[in-house]
Amino acid sequence: ATVLFVEASGAEHRIDVPTGENLMRAALNEGLEGMVGECGGGLACATCHCYVEEDWADRLPAPAQTEQDMLECTASERRPSSRLGCQIVVSDALDGLVVHLPAAQY
Ligand code: FES
Repeated sequence: ATVLFVEASGAEHRIDVPTGENLMRAALNEGLEGMVGECGGGLACATCHCYVEEDWADRLPAPAQTEQDMLECTASERRPSSRLGCQIVVSDALDGLVVHLPAAQY
């Protein structure tokens, strides 16, 4: 699926993400600014925080309670569209997804 990542600077990166890959890994593989993923996807850091475009929020599987809890710890402001990138696994259904990266992860 093609995912559009938008860095806090406004720089846009359209990335072809393989099915089964999560958004944190996809962004790291491309070396994008604004993605850290310190715990490697273990739901223990919140440095993979991102904002999904508003109209996508309802189309993604809802965050599990563990993700909700970790979203309390984001460095940048938590918004209704906040998600942890490591918890969003890409499939064909997410083709066209737009993800905004926050200004800070620490
Ligand atoms: Fe640590 Fe997502 S990479 S919570």
